Order: sequence, then C-alpha cells, then structure tokens
Amino acid sequence: MRNVSTFHDLSTTRLALSGTVGLVPTMGYLHEGHLSLIRRAREECDQVFVSIFINPTQFGPKEDLSKYPRDLERDFHLIEPYTDVVWTPTDEMMYPQGYQTWVEVEALTNVLEGAMRPGHFRGVTTVVAKLFNGVQPHKAYFGQKDAQQVAVIRQMVRDLNFPIEIVVCPTAREPDGLAMSSRNVYLNADQRTAATVLFRALSAAKELYESGERSGEKLRQTMKDVLAAEPFAQMQYVSCADYDTLEELVEIKGRALLSMAVYFGKTRLIDNFVLG
Ligand code: PAJ
Repeated sequence: MRNVSTFHDLSTTRLALSGTVGLVPTMGYLHEGHLSLIRRAREECDQVFVSIFINPTQFGPKEDLSKYPRDLERDFHLIEPYTDVVWTPTDEMMYPQGYQTWVEVEALTNVLEGAMRPGHFRGVTTVVAKLFNGVQPHKAYFGQKDAQQVAVIRQMVRDLNFPIEIVVCPTAREPDGLAMSSRNVYLNADQRTAATVLFRALSAAKELYESGERSGEKLRQTMKDVLAAEPFAQMQYVSCADYDTLEELVEIKGRALLSMAVYFGKTRLIDNFVLG
C-alpha cells in the first residue's frame, strides 16, 4: 500500500496505474462499515484508492470537528490488505489560502440532514468533487447509511457529467442492529444500550409497511412512538420520504426512504431503511 499526500504525488501515482480504479472516500477512524466498501471496491476494481480526510467544510460551527475521532496508524493497518493507494491530503492542500470555489446541489439539500445542518452538503459535494478530480476513479463507493449523501452525490455526478459510477453499499450494523458509525464511540454505556432504538423504530415502521400500510404519516408516527418510549433518546426528526426526491410522502407508491436523526446527550445518530 502506497501513501500519498500532495496532489502532485497523487497524480504521478495515478498516471502510472492501469485498469479500473475504485475510490472509497472516508474521514478515517475506520470501522467495519468503511471496510465493507473497501472490500467491495477490491472485488470490483484493479486498483483501490482510499482517501482519508476530515473535511472541515462539512462541519457546522457548533459541530464536532475538533473532537472528531482520529487514529491514522490503526486505519492504515485495517485497510492495508485491500488498498493500493491511501491518499491523506492536509487542510492546506485541499483549501489553500484564497480558496473560493464551491459545488452546491440545490433542492435535494434543503430537507432532512441538509435542513438540520446548513452548509453540510455544500462541504460534502465540494470535497467529493475535488477527490473525484484528484483520483479520477471509474467507480466510487458510498454507504447507504448516509442516504441523503448518496442522493446528493448522484445528483452532482449527473449534473456535472462526472464519468464515474456510484456504487452504493448496504449499511453495516452491530449484532443488535445499531448502524456502525465513527460517532458511536461518544456514547456512554446507557446511551449505547438506548441507541438500538433507531433500529427498533425503523423495524416497527417497516413491519407496518410489510403488513400493507401505505400512509406516510402512520409510519412516521410509529417511529416517533418507539423513539418517545426511550428516555435517553431525543428525536430531532423522523421522515418517510420519496427515495429519489426526498419529499415527505402522504401515501407510499414507489420506493420510499424511512430516516431519522436522534440525539443521545450531545451525540447525534442517523439511520435509515429503504422500502420497496
Ligand atoms: P465517513 O463518515 O467517514 O464515511 C465514509 C463512507 O463510509 C460513507 O460513504 C459512509 O456512508 C460509509 N459508511 C459509514 N458508516 C457505514 C456503515 N455503517 N455501513 C456502510 N457504510 C458506512 O461520509 C463521509 O465520511 C464524508 O461525508 C465523505 C463522503 C468522506 C466526504 O467528506
């Protein structure tokens, strides 16, 4: 595995490689969820690139940028068996003095995570566009765990004609259903036990859907009821939306996205299920 940092080293390394190139963008502190993406890239591509960059522009002023967990040595060790090139740019390389260009997807980013975290997706699409330009992959791998991120990146790829296939991988979960996340380390023991409530709420709504219920409001209410019964959980939003447009649904007709954001103390967790 080769480690590159500057755009210059990245581009020389990239030019020397032939065959299909897969990119897995990450912010590090890797877990089984990230590794499932990297393994999938290994199966499908001749060359696997992993980027590790804690992107400052996607964190809000009150968010956890400075506290975001990091352990580069451990990350390198975990990805070594599956990775050809790991790219670790610095903040100064990505956003040098005088930086002023942004990539922004409009309507899709006004709801759900975008509504709760203003500016977040502008940071995500800008950095992902820069990662795509740097690596020039044939395929890029993203997790369904961040469902809106996937929708927004797909839109950007269509709108800006990136010749890149976006591959979406299923959410990796702990045995009790909690979606794996770098932020799970912030949970204390009580919060960790309570955090299964996201999976329980989503499962309850899915069960109702499978029994034939098609009212968006009934599914939203079911998720709210399950969350309300968990004292350590504070719901921020629940949603039952159209899978493509992310608009809230009155009646489910095609593919739908159940999603939610829930606080446990200061730790904010998100999760989702796709229906249909
Ligand atoms: P990060 O949170 O590190 O996640 C990197 C990738 O791993 C994302 O595509 C995310 O959806 C995926 N992932 C995280 N948890 C997962 C899980 N439990 N199962 C499956 N996939 C999972 O998402 C980001 O970084 C950043 O926004 C980034 C795209 C790198 C841009 O900065």
